[in-house]
Amino acid sequence: MEAAQVTEMLYALRNPAGIPTFPIIFIGLGVLTFALHILFVQLMLGTSLITIIGSFSNDDKWRRLGAAMLEIAKVSVSVAIVIGVAPLLFVQVVYDPNWYASNVLSADYVIAFIFILILAYWAMYFYYFRNKVQGSPEPRSRWSMILSLALMLCVGFIMHALTSQMLYPDQWREWYAPAGQMDYSGSSIHAYNLIRFGFFISLAIPVAGAMMITYRRFKMVREDADMEFLDWTAELGKTWMKVGSVISAVLFAGWMMTLPEKAGDFGTSIWAILGFVMALFPAIWATVRLKNNHHFCSYMPLAIMLVAGLVIATSREMLRFTIMNDGFGYNFMDYKIVMDWYSTGLFFGTFAIVGGAVLAYMLTVAWKAGQTVGVYTPSKAVDRMGTIALWIIVLWVIQFFISGFIVWAQ
Ligand code: HEM
Repeated sequence: MEAAQVTEMLYALRNPAGIPTFPIIFIGLGVLTFALHILFVQLMLGTSLITIIGSFSNDDKWRRLGAAMLEIAKVSVSVAIVIGVAPLLFVQVVYDPNWYASNVLSADYVIAFIFILILAYWAMYFYYFRNKVQGSPEPRSRWSMILSLALMLCVGFIMHALTSQMLYPDQWREWYAPAGQMDYSGSSIHAYNLIRFGFFISLAIPVAGAMMITYRRFKMVREDADMEFLDWTAELGKTWMKVGSVISAVLFAGWMMTLPEKAGDFGTSIWAILGFVMALFPAIWATVRLKNNHHFCSYMPLAIMLVAGLVIATSREMLRFTIMNDGFGYNFMDYKIVMDWYSTGLFFGTFAIVGGAVLAYMLTVAWKAGQTVGVYTPSKAVDRMGTIALWIIVLWVIQFFISGFIVWAQ
């Protein structure tokens, strides 16, 4: 297709209803929530890998670590899935022509995505329940943990393919009607880049490393803390953080060398350089800062991974912008705006107040329970936090019906 035709097609595919607030807000939130999504994806993949290694090891420490990391993997899957919904919402608002075309072209995979994910989660829980009874001589049903990790990677690959296909609007028609013959099946994957995919997956190693270091900090305050085990875990975490980050940086460079033609010279731009530096940053930080056990006493490693992830997510978004804007003349910034302040305010209010209050309560309970030996009983203050969170939800539901009623009555 001619370049001008592609631009025209993209604008024609836009939602004529417009969007309710400035497009840059959607992109900003998209980048932020993608960074959070991918951090938990990496945490879940990395801790699953440790669980598998632990299950095959005869070393007591590895076995213990594997069991401990499985607890983190279970929670991370649900957080990764829940937070994954957010970038999905944002990307389909400003890049709707691209996102929907890509989804329709591989519809079978989009539908399979959810079933594969359910199976992956079941497989993880199957392994968990099979090994829940402490002290069993040999870990049982290790295959199910391996299956879980493999299926999670399939899910991630589908997401990666959808994201990749978005970047080739000049080829959609050929994919949809190869040699003029319509193909409605949606049964093919048309574009992917294994180096880019490998890069995002490889960050699971430094993220898991950062988790192991912070695990020591979290558990060391317990009365029954086994410092020898915790020190060993943090030391291992440091190695994972350093080695993993170097691997990721190499893959990032590989990704930049294999960009689509329409990306122009993005591979040598400031965003590409920043992305590379941030992929390497955890290794540099761990080498400089984690010289002795004293420095293991912080939650900093996870914060480092989050900051690196945020910059990398921004660089990834700049790549999409460069390809779509410079390559195909599609600029998300000129989306028609039909300003709706109530809906924008409600969104941020819900995010900050409802989300903030409920999350603060849940995290406080989970945090304190993890640091308590035996059964944890919440204090009065924590109880009150729960009551306030409940009331905030009730008020939110009431305003939902009132505003719905007002709109309906107009
Ligand atoms: C649990 C297994 C999952 C894995 C391993 C995974 C992995 C990934 C990876 C590697 C990417 C980056 C792709 C790229 O830029 O090349 C990605 C992007 C994304 N994922 Fe996930 N993901 C998972 C689940 C989910 C779920 C359940 C959702 C939503 C319900 C989701 C929504 C997204 C979205 C919206 C993007 C970004 C799309 C874009 O900005 O172009 N993911 N995921």
